[in-house]
Amino acid sequence: MKILLTGASGFIGRHLAQALTAEGHQVTPISRRNGQDMQTLLTPEAWLPFLQGVDAVINSVGIIAEIRGQTFEKLHHRAPAALFRACEQAGIRRVVQISALGADAQAFTPYQLSKYAADEVLRRLPLEGVVLRPSLVYGQGGASMALFQRLANLPLIPLVGDGQYRVQPVHISDVVATVLQCLHTLPAQRTLDVVGAQPLTFVEWLQQLRRAAGKHPAPTLAIPFAAVMASAHVGRLVMPLLHPDNLRMLQRGNVADVTPLAAFLGRMPLSVEEGLCCI
Ligand SMILES: NC(=O)c1ccc[n+]([C@@H]2O[C@H](COP(=O)([O-])OP(=O)(O)OC[C@H]3O[C@@H](n4cnc5c(N)ncnc54)[C@H](OP(=O)(O)O)[C@@H]3O)[C@@H](O)[C@H]2O)c1
Repeated sequence: MKILLTGASGFIGRHLAQALTAEGHQVTPISRRNGQDMQTLLTPEAWLPFLQGVDAVINSVGIIAEIRGQTFEKLHHRAPAALFRACEQAGIRRVVQISALGADAQAFTPYQLSKYAADEVLRRLPLEGVVLRPSLVYGQGGASMALFQRLANLPLIPLVGDGQYRVQPVHISDVVATVLQCLHTLPAQRTLDVVGAQPLTFVEWLQQLRRAAGKHPAPTLAIPFAAVMASAHVGRLVMPLLHPDNLRMLQRGNVADVTPLAAFLGRMPLSVEEGLCCI
């Protein structure tokens, strides 16, 4: 198949491009590093020239914070919505949208709301569209994983609040396997949460990362949520991932029922112990 892949130079996009190429697909990559700024591709007409001869589309563009003129509204909502409408016009039926866990009716941050808006556009179009909502994705080259590894390797691990909020990290190989399968088979639910085998608390996740680095569990230091939020307003200027909204999303928790994903894959996704062995 000829596949248009947005976000092709990103963490998930790079793994997808590699797997697609290995399966014999031809990938048309879209990203600024590949010469296209999606902030300028906001109408179906702008997308149509890229869709000639394309059989399927995977949208994996994304930002975690609005920096250097990049906006959630353009990159997560308007550009993907224009792309999906262009697919309808070009007769491309199979479209896989990489959304995010939390992009639902309870969404409360601009990141989640902008993803939800694009997801809704895709769900309403007469296409074979699939909305995949990954939780925290980990694996080679992941930016959030690198940050969590740095935290986990400290002799005293600082925590936002009590660290008891839950996460359900999913290994990149399971995300890739799910996307590839979506190209051939539609899941029973067109919106599929892509999560790891089981939820764990954030502090357990950090201790697992530490164990994977060959270290013993470390003591933790709970920093009150309000204090971290106050410093995050400055911290985000140094590291956009530390935006207060991202901390709020972490605190809300990032878990879902794994059963539909396991049914679709015909197996359980990797547990954190199994996944961290592959890194
Ligand atoms: N990683 C996770 O844990 C996770 C979890 C849930 C959902 N997701 C979602 O999965 C998707 C991919 O995430 P990721 O971790 O792979 O992110 P990433 O590593 O930051 O990659 C983002 C991609 O978007 C592209 N991009 C950014 N601005 C662009 C622009 N103006 N025009 C064209 N391309 C642009 C980047 O390429 P250039 O910089 O070259 O333009 C890059 O290829 C995102 O939608 C993200 O929200 C990720």
